[in-house]
Order: sequence, then C-alpha cells, then structure tokens
Amino acid sequence: MRPGQSSAAQEEALLQVTGLAVHYGGIRAVQALDLAVYPGERVTLIGANGAGKSSTLKALAGLVAPFRGSIRFCGRDLGAVPAWQRPALGLCLVPEGRGVFARLGIEENLLMGAYHRRLRPAQWQEELALVYHWFPRLYERRTQAAGTLSGGEQQMLAMGRALLSKPRLLMLDEPSMGLAPLMVDKIFAVIRQIVASGVSLLLVEQNARLALELCDRAYVLESGSVVLTDQAQRCLHHPQVREAYLGNDGA
Ligand SMILES: Nc1ncnc2c1ncn2[C@@H]1O[C@H](COP(=O)(O)OP(=O)(O)O)[C@@H](O)[C@H]1O
Ligand SMILES: [Mg+2]
Repeated sequence: MRPGQSSAAQEEALLQVTGLAVHYGGIRAVQALDLAVYPGERVTLIGANGAGKSSTLKALAGLVAPFRGSIRFCGRDLGAVPAWQRPALGLCLVPEGRGVFARLGIEENLLMGAYHRRLRPAQWQEELALVYHWFPRLYERRTQAAGTLSGGEQQMLAMGRALLSKPRLLMLDEPSMGLAPLMVDKIFAVIRQIVASGVSLLLVEQNARLALELCDRAYVLESGSVVLTDQAQRCLHHPQVREAYLGNDGA
C-alpha cells in the first residue's frame, strides 16, 4: 500500500523490495532493506559513500545476487530473472560511470537499449529522433565513437540508451557525478521531462538537495540499512538530513 494511503485505495507497488541483503564476502553492503516504488513515483536513496546505494541498485538490476530478500517488479518475483531480461520487463539501470560501449558509435550504443524490442526501421527512426530531441548534443556527435564523448555526453548517451528500452522504472546511479554545473542542469532538465512523461524513477544522487527537490519520497541509508524514510519535501527540513547531507546551508 502506498504510504499515507487508506486501505480502501490499495494500489500495488511497481517495485517492492523486502528484506534485501547484499554481501561481498564478509562485507555486508546492504542489510534488511525494505523499499517500494509506486507507479509514477519518484524515489531517491540518500546516503554517504559506502552506504550501499549502488549495491541496492545493482541487486535490482540483477548485476549482483542478493544474499537474502525478495525483489518484486510489476507483481513478479525477479529472483530467477537474469540481468539481461530485466530491461524487457521495464526495469532499467543507468549505472554509475555510465557503461557506454566506448568503441561503438552513438547509434550502435542506443540500439543496444532497444535490442529486445525488435522495432521496425520506421519505428526505430521515430524513437531515435525522440532521443535526439531530448539530447540534441548526441545528434551533433552522432558519427563519433562513444569513447570520445565528454562525461556529460556519455551520461546523455547512457540515459538515451535506457529510454530506448521503454522503462517503467528508470534507475539512475549518480547521474551528476563528475559533471560541470551547466551539464548537471541539462541532465536534470531531461530527467524532469522523463518523469513528467510518466516513467517512475529511483534516483541515487550525491547532490541530496537536487534529488530531494526532484523526488516525491526518500530513503536515507546508513551502513546498508534504511534509517529514515519520508516525503522528500519533509526530508529537506529534517534536522538529521540537513546536518548530514545538505550541509545545513540554510536554503
Ligand atoms: N564489488 C565489491 N566488492 C567488495 N566490496 C564492495 C564491492 N562493491 C561495494 N563494496 C562495498 O560495499 C559497501 C557499499 O558500497 P556501495 O553500494 O558502492 O555504496 P554507495 O553506492 O552508497 O557509495 C562499501 O563498503 C563498499 O566498499
Ligand atoms: Mg555508489
């Protein structure tokens, strides 16, 4: 049930994570984590370096195997669904570091996002045009190899590739990492358009203020566990969050 919702208006979560644990040998990166994202919702995971944010997203994407816990997406248990099949279900991760194929061209990278959809050529051209509409810079650079793009352009490419998989839930891990402020503004302007089009969002972002202002709800992670969850707007005023993640900047 959506937080704050009466039982009369029960709605099934798009993503329901229960008791998730991720271990790397003896390192307990994520422990007993419960998390939900409802249709159309924008949710952020806030936490310091090493809190377990990326490990959580990787487990959702199927890139690391959970030690314990269940992940349900669209009512389906993902336990036996390999990483490569998850985008076809509508669950797509843009990883930290972007993960573009450096030696391939821009359109070859974009095509990877849509490989499972078997688009007809006309449909492909239509959707490609939409990505270029969102990211005109990619159109200008379309003859280049992805490895020659700047960090911001690679982020655009990775997001364009994810969008071509037609996600229902888009997961972004540190989209602003290493980017100049102007590029961060551009990337976030597109993220706003994407969520306005109805795609649900699970966002990990080092700039906690940016994330909380964009999202509906937040989970705060410390040492692999959720220590606080609330409406994002309320988190902006929460003393514990302000102290630890907003630098108490008084804004
Ligand atoms: N591949 C790995 N092998 C071993 N330890 C890892 C690995 N990836 C992450 N960790 C450890 O797991 C913990 C959580 O890391 P991570 O999920 O990357 O945190 P965050 O994204 O919040 O910075 C950290 O202690 C980190 O050192
Ligand atoms: Mg991380």
